[in-house]
Amino acid sequence: MIPNIIIAIDGFSSSGKSTMARQLAKTVGYRYVDSGAMYRAVALYALKNNLFIDSTPDVDAIVASLPDIKIDFKLMPDGSQHTLLNGQDVENEIRSFGVSNAVSPVAAIPEVRHAMVALQQALGKQKGIVMDGRDIGTTVFPDAELKLFVNATAENRAKRRFKELQEKGDNHSTFEQVLENVLSRDHIDMTRSESPLRRADDAIDIDNSNMTIDEQNSLLLELFNNKIKELTATK
Ligand code: CDP
Repeated sequence: MIPNIIIAIDGFSSSGKSTMARQLAKTVGYRYVDSGAMYRAVALYALKNNLFIDSTPDVDAIVASLPDIKIDFKLMPDGSQHTLLNGQDVENEIRSFGVSNAVSPVAAIPEVRHAMVALQQALGKQKGIVMDGRDIGTTVFPDAELKLFVNATAENRAKRRFKELQEKGDNHSTFEQVLENVLSRDHIDMTRSESPLRRADDAIDIDNSNMTIDEQNSLLLELFNNKIKELTATK
């Protein structure tokens, strides 16, 4: 029997992890979970409920609100997943530039991370899952069978995110602001004390700066098939 595995995809902001993870999950028939969407939903809740003092998260108030924040994913008829915050579809709202600016300091709060990690681990219980984020291969699923660490230059990542925002009609930010946001999130994610962004020792590096989506997909499928072969051979 083909084993069900856990695939952890980590990497920097806007490195294309989600496109990779979503596509791979579709190809191999696994469930896709976007862990970043959960942190974005918490940040959106905090913004909506004025849990910021100036632009700094009000840590005590956010921690006290955690029991009131319920995050779910809803499978849409086209196969995509939408994030629900207390039952409300917030998929579009969580991708706004405002949330991108607020999310990393919120995601650095240890209690927020503990709550989200517990949720992520529960979703992975049955395996057969692809999850993307910053700490999936290190903290959430340190025993994941296949771990990938994705990178691309900051310029390339900002270009992609800028194009994405423009395509969505979000014209409030300049390329320089998007680049600044990418660099600032990299910095916060790498330097926070609780499960910082770090490549797992057993992760496979992928730099997709110069890869087309098709090239990326074939590489991912090859890595998946190799892993399954390896696991079935050693059984
Ligand atoms: O889409 P993008 O790569 O820009 O970000 P995301 O995956 O949606 O994650 C949004 C933010 O949540 C990141 O900038 C991190 O600060 C945080 N995050 C995290 O701390 N841990 C994760 N496992 C996933 C996201």
